[in-house]
Amino acid sequence: MAIEPKSDEGLERLEELRSRSRMGGGERRIAQQRSKGKLTARERLDLVFDAGTFEEIDPFATHRATGFGLADNRPPGDAVVTGYGKVNGRKVFAYAQDFTVLGGSVSETVGKKICKVMDLAMKVGAPVVGVNDSGGARIQEGVLSLAAYGEIFLRNTMASGVVPQISVIVGPSAGGAVYSPGITDFVFMAQGVGQMYITGPDVIKTVMGEEVTHEELGGASAHGVRSGVAHFVYETEEECMEELRRLLSFLPSNNMEDPPAGVAFDPVDRVSEDLAGIVPRESNKSYDIREIMARVVDDEDLMEVHQSYAPNIVVAFARMGGATVGLVGNQPAVLAGVLDINASVKAARFIRFCDAFNIPVITFVDVPGFLPGTDQEHGGIIRHGAKLIYAYAEATVPKVSVMIRKAYGGAYIVMSSKHLRGDINLSWPSGEIAVMGPDGAVNIIFREEIAKASDPEKRRAELTREYVENFANPYVAASHGFLDDVIDPRETRPRLIRALDLLKDKVDAMPRKKHGNIPL
Ligand code: HXC
Repeated sequence: MAIEPKSDEGLERLEELRSRSRMGGGERRIAQQRSKGKLTARERLDLVFDAGTFEEIDPFATHRATGFGLADNRPPGDAVVTGYGKVNGRKVFAYAQDFTVLGGSVSETVGKKICKVMDLAMKVGAPVVGVNDSGGARIQEGVLSLAAYGEIFLRNTMASGVVPQISVIVGPSAGGAVYSPGITDFVFMAQGVGQMYITGPDVIKTVMGEEVTHEELGGASAHGVRSGVAHFVYETEEECMEELRRLLSFLPSNNMEDPPAGVAFDPVDRVSEDLAGIVPRESNKSYDIREIMARVVDDEDLMEVHQSYAPNIVVAFARMGGATVGLVGNQPAVLAGVLDINASVKAARFIRFCDAFNIPVITFVDVPGFLPGTDQEHGGIIRHGAKLIYAYAEATVPKVSVMIRKAYGGAYIVMSSKHLRGDINLSWPSGEIAVMGPDGAVNIIFREEIAKASDPEKRRAELTREYVENFANPYVAASHGFLDDVIDPRETRPRLIRALDLLKDKVDAMPRKKHGNIPL
C-alpha cells in the first residue's frame, strides 16, 4: 500500500505562530521601540548569547485576561522572551521583557514564563540573566500580576547564593517591580535608556511637590553614582551586554562549582619592579590603588564593580594564575581611602557574593580609619560598618591580604585582619598598624609634655619620630603573628599566587545556625 505524503499543514501553522511570536507587538511597536533608541527583546538576547545558541521556551504562551479589550489582543509569547543558551560556551538562562507587547507589563503568564526559566536554572545550576524593560504589573490583570511578581521575588530570594543572578535595565523598571533586580547580584544599566524607581516623577510631584525628571530620579547615573543600585553603567545596550558576558566569564555557574580556572599566560612568578614606586613615602599622599591591583593580577585585567559608587573603596574581579579572585582595596586617591557608610556596604556585599560563589578574596589595605562626622554617625556608620566586619568574619573562602601602608584603628581589624579569620596576611615594609596616625596619637598622649617643652615643635617632632619607630611599622604586628610575613613589594604577585595555591583546599565552616543576623 502506498504511503500518503504527510500534510505540511501542521508545519505551516507552526511557522505562522512562530513568526507572529517573533514579531512581538508588531511592526509599528517595534518601530516605536527603535525610535526611543532601544533594541528589541530578541536583539538583546542575541547580544547576550553565543551566536546561534539561544533556545526559546514558551513562545506560544498567551495571557488569559478577557477584560479591557485584551480578549482580542493575545500575542503568542506575551510580553517576555524566555529561554536558555550558551555564554562563552557555558549554560545560561535568560528572559527579556518585550516592551512592544503591552509595554512589557508583567501578566500572570509573563510571571509564569519567567519563573519557569528560574526554576530550570536552579535545577541545572546555571546563572539567570533578566533583561528589564517594562511598565510593571499589568494593570488589567490586577492581583494576578501582583502575585506573579511575588513568585518572581520568591525565586530571586531562593536562588540568591545558589546561582548568579544578573539584571540588565534597558527601559523603565518602575514600582515594586524594581525589587526583582534589587535582589539580584548585579545590576547593569544603559545610560539614557534604563530607569528604576519605586515612585515616578508624577507621584513625587503630587505627594512631595518636588519636580524631577525620569532620568534624574532613576537613570543610570543616579543609580551608578548615588544610590549604588547599579553595579555597572555603560553608554549603550551593546556595551552592557558585552560586559555582562565578560562578568559571567569570571563567575562559576553555581555555588557548588569553583570559579572558572583558565590557563595563565601571565607568568605566575612575574615580579613587578615598579610596584613600590607607586606608593608615596609620605603616608598622607595619595595614589591609585588600582595601579597596584592591575600590576599584580593576570594581564592587568580588572573588572571593577561599582566603579563610580563609593570610590573610596575599590572592588573588582580579576584572575591570578588563571583563576578568578575578588579584590577589595582601600582607595587612597579618594577621601584618603577612608571607610564610610557606602564603602562599607559596597565591600560587604561584594565579599558576601565572593564567599557564596567560592571566589577567594584578596584585600589591599591602606586605610586611615572610619570617616568621622554627624552625617556618618546619624546615617548609621555603626550599623553599616558592622556589615563589613560581619562579611569578612563569616567568609570561609580563602582570604589573603597585603598591607600597603596605613591600617589605623578599627579599620585595621575590619580589613581582612587575622582576627577575622584572615588566612594569609602579608605586609610591605611600608605597612603601619596603630590605634591612630602618629600626629593624632602624639597630640593625645604627649599633650602635656609638648606644652611644657622649651621648644614644643621640636619636642613634638622628636616624639612623633619615636612613635613612628615604635608603632608605625609592620614588625610589631609581625612579632605577634598578626602578619604572617613582611615581603618585598616587587614579589607581591608571586607571593599572593602561592598563598592562593596553598589555600586551594581550605576547609572552614560556621557554627550550626539557621542563619546569622547581619546588621541590615
Ligand atoms: C498595562 C501598560 C502598562 C502596565 C504600559 N502599558 N504600562 N499596560 N499595564 N503596567 C502599555 C501602555 O498602555 C501602552 O499601550 C504601551 O504599554 C506603551 O506604553 P506608553 O505609556 O505608550 O510608553 P512610554 O510613553 O514609553 O511610557 C512608559 C511608562 C508608562 C513610563 C512605563 O507606560 C507608564 O508609566 N506605565 C505605567 C507604569 C506603572 O505605574 N506601572 C505600575 C507600577 S506598580 P498602548 O496600547 O496605549 O500603546 C507595579 C507593582 C509591582 O509594577 C508590584 C510588585 C510588588
